[in-house]
Amino acid sequence: MKFGFFDDGRKEYVITNPQTPYPWINYLGNEDFFSLISNTAGGYSFYLDAKFRRITRYRYNNVPIDSGGRYFYIKDGDTIWSPGWKPCKTPLDKYECRHGLNYTSITGEKDGVSVNVLFFVPLKTWAEVQKLTIINNSGQTKKLKLFSFLEWCLWNAATDMENFQRNFSTGEVEIEGSTIYHKTEYKERRNHYAFYSVNVPITGYDTDRESFFGLYNGFDEPKVVAEGKAGMSEAHGWSPIASHYLEVELKPGESRDLIFILGYVENKDEEKWESKNIINKTKARETMARFNTVAKVNEAFDDLKKYWENLLGIYNVKSADEKLDRIVNIWNQYQCMITFCFSRSASYFESGIGRGMGFRDSNQDLLGFVHQIPERARERIIDIASTQFQDGGCYHQYQPLTKRGNNDIGGGFNDDPLWLIVGTISYIKETGDMGILDEMVPFDNDMSVAKSLFDHLTVSFDHVLNNLGPHKLPLIGRADWNDCLNLNCFSNDPNESFQTTENKTEDSKAESLMIAGLFVVSGREYIALCKKLGKSAETARAQKHVDMMVDAIKKHGWDGEWFIRAYDYYGKKVGSKENEEGKIFIESNGWCSMAGIGKEEGMVEKALNSVKKYLDCDHGIVLNNPAFTRYYIEYGEISSYPAGYKENAGVFCHNNPWIIIAETVIGRGDEAWEYYRKICPSYLEDRSELHKTEPYVYSQMIAGKDAWRPGEAKNSWLSGTAAWTFYTVSQYILGIKPQFDGLEISPCIPANWKQFKVTRKFRGATYVIAVENPMGVNTGIKSVSLNDKELSGKLLPLCAHGTVNKVKVIMG
Ligand code: BGC
Ligand code: NOJ
Repeated sequence: MKFGFFDDGRKEYVITNPQTPYPWINYLGNEDFFSLISNTAGGYSFYLDAKFRRITRYRYNNVPIDSGGRYFYIKDGDTIWSPGWKPCKTPLDKYECRHGLNYTSITGEKDGVSVNVLFFVPLKTWAEVQKLTIINNSGQTKKLKLFSFLEWCLWNAATDMENFQRNFSTGEVEIEGSTIYHKTEYKERRNHYAFYSVNVPITGYDTDRESFFGLYNGFDEPKVVAEGKAGMSEAHGWSPIASHYLEVELKPGESRDLIFILGYVENKDEEKWESKNIINKTKARETMARFNTVAKVNEAFDDLKKYWENLLGIYNVKSADEKLDRIVNIWNQYQCMITFCFSRSASYFESGIGRGMGFRDSNQDLLGFVHQIPERARERIIDIASTQFQDGGCYHQYQPLTKRGNNDIGGGFNDDPLWLIVGTISYIKETGDMGILDEMVPFDNDMSVAKSLFDHLTVSFDHVLNNLGPHKLPLIGRADWNDCLNLNCFSNDPNESFQTTENKTEDSKAESLMIAGLFVVSGREYIALCKKLGKSAETARAQKHVDMMVDAIKKHGWDGEWFIRAYDYYGKKVGSKENEEGKIFIESNGWCSMAGIGKEEGMVEKALNSVKKYLDCDHGIVLNNPAFTRYYIEYGEISSYPAGYKENAGVFCHNNPWIIIAETVIGRGDEAWEYYRKICPSYLEDRSELHKTEPYVYSQMIAGKDAWRPGEAKNSWLSGTAAWTFYTVSQYILGIKPQFDGLEISPCIPANWKQFKVTRKFRGATYVIAVENPMGVNTGIKSVSLNDKELSGKLLPLCAHGTVNKVKVIMG
């Protein structure tokens, strides 16, 4: 069953039934000011950091779900309704929500009145603009009452939810004209405030929540709306809100546009005040003036559209399959931007309070983002590397506002450092910017011990070598990519966090084959970089260690039919036929196969056949099999999940691409494609009632074959799945791969594909690449021509800036 449809021409997903199986959300803003918005206008806004600068309040785990947001109430006679259906839930004559790229447009119609609200954050603006258009399509004059509503958060989203003894006394607002200012704590240590304005005179306002709703009412029945007049309340403590009240009279056929702005301002210390206790509103007024007419708003909206047009023009495929084209050309790249901005911080599954930017997460996100805005990727790499320690280890997370490592979670995840190599090299391959390697980058933000970024990569590489276990395989530390395989945790205490507790570290023998495979893949990238830089001694040194790792994997990591997953604390195998449960895992088979370890001896093919046999299911590839059915203290959180969910045999979409890439390593294009399609949301749209999450973005997890409800997805949006699926489809299936010196062409596709075309902008030139597959092969290139000249290999050389180049590829 579907709840809407893709409008590819407008790059929108159009929701036609507000009662989606879960809130289907979108993100506004892509730089500093951000909002989450659901298909019924729920959600919240923040500046840069969802924990420390939360602008509007949102309650998680609410009943009903997704209550609270930016709401409009229309009172038409005795009927009260909202254009987004919620919160009033008055049945609408028509409802439509169009989620586009960093904007959402919601339309509701009731009794001949149509209200459309376009929500977006204009480029380079610290504000959400809401352009509301009311049209009277009825035959009579309508006297409407319109109320806006949003609720302020007292800035720190964590303390906002817990420290009520203080919070109920601190709230402060100012009201001037049609603007409501939220200035809690501005008089002490904060230099920021927020405002909510409308571009016309108002009839009334409310700024105190209890006065607006009445103490015993919910979002669906505000007292003042029912009464049809504003309470003119001024908040002092308790819960400050912002609501405008407007009377709108419309003749038949008449329409009205209103522009609401939710903005955020920071002032320098010496510029904080206009007069005693009156905040300096200059910057707020400037923002309002930038968007006080429909023409100005439309122009800003066009700019946003052009911005996306431009970004999406960098990689574009035209195939015979519209589901593929729409996910590659629009939604997957969009999701990559979103994961780049938020890492794993703020979604409808991540509260924005617990986690900031992840070291491994944000590095992997770069794989799907470097081609979009390389300058921002560059800055991110430096920020991430600045949270590394001198021994190559690193903080597992850092806060976006302070860019400082997060002490609560600390470090000790031994895969983390290697992702810096992966992220940095993908940036260099995209841009050719070797100069980034010479940047001086601090350790733990301490500039006095800064070293070049290249040196950071070296300590990342060496961190693995300095932490080898008894089989000369990498020690796992707190955990590797799989945060839930906690081999040194041994927790018997429900009050301990699996993520931060290591009860046994002394003499631990726990080693990871996933890190081993990742070390070989990223180590080879590092070697290629060293060669390129003419560092022959370092090349030789690194090569020796990579070769030794390959030997160690072949010797101690092979189980006969697949790669084992790990050695536990006691040195016993994990993910082996010897185990009762969890005999085979996806991660080590993905990484060791991607590295092509034992390819000649048939190990890769065998491993992938085992993956197919034991891990594949209708909904994708599950993480492990058999699922754990009891708690294993020596494995930790993985065995805490019910079978089939999350890291315990869920289809953890993030790591499916590792198998897909591995399939392309041995040229099996049909298998690669089949796996790709299974988890790709545009192919799952028809079963939205089961899948539950948005059909336009990937989810972190789809319940696996052992689950109570296989096929049900969770944790949409913020997942490494976005970057990995884009990287996989663009570089390994369609096969257009940036290299240090050009674009390599090596598709691995289903045999029945006849042709496809990719337009790729790369280092200033455009390549229009037409691939034909006359013999029906999966992989292999017969000829490549560039501007009608045959090339000897499959590497397209760099072409002059601004040129458009015709590339013809014949597979065979
Ligand atoms: C989840 C993991 C996540 C970890 C860290 C665990 O509960 O299962 O997917 O990476 O928490 O937040
Ligand atoms: C989600 C986390 O964000 C990521 O860092 C981790 O690798 C996966 N879960 C797997 O546990």
